[in-house]
Amino acid sequence: MATNALIDKLNEALGWELRAINMYAHYAANVKGIHRLQLSPMFDSEATESLMHANTVRMSIVKLQGIPVTERNPHPITHTTDYAEMLQFSLETESQAAAVYGEVMIQLEQAADQDLKDAIEQIYLAELRSVEELRLLME
Ligand SMILES: [Fe+2]
Ligand SMILES: [Fe+2]
Repeated sequence: MATNALIDKLNEALGWELRAINMYAHYAANVKGIHRLQLSPMFDSEATESLMHANTVRMSIVKLQGIPVTERNPHPITHTTDYAEMLQFSLETESQAAAVYGEVMIQLEQAADQDLKDAIEQIYLAELRSVEELRLLME
């Protein structure tokens, strides 16, 4: 029962990672103006990080004998070429990810698997750092 709730939460996180991969790849390709110089590589590395997070979460679900989702979270990805809007949507995405991983951490409190806890905690901390970094970028 507890494992099912954990698998569901991990799948929710996986759906957000799959969405983040698409969103960041889209913004890396579409960002225009002088800020492209710095933001295109930043969005690219966020896409890569999301891909790694998705891999870790997917493997954790398999380890728990669950079935990982294959569809991204349906929350719309808004097309824009404006870097400020992209940063706003990025902050929204990272905040959402941090919230979901926060819920996963609560589910993991009773879990016996320390490797799983450590792996997910690393991702959770990375999402919190991204939220902070985006806040600073937008000041
Ligand atoms: Fe992530
Ligand atoms: Fe992230």
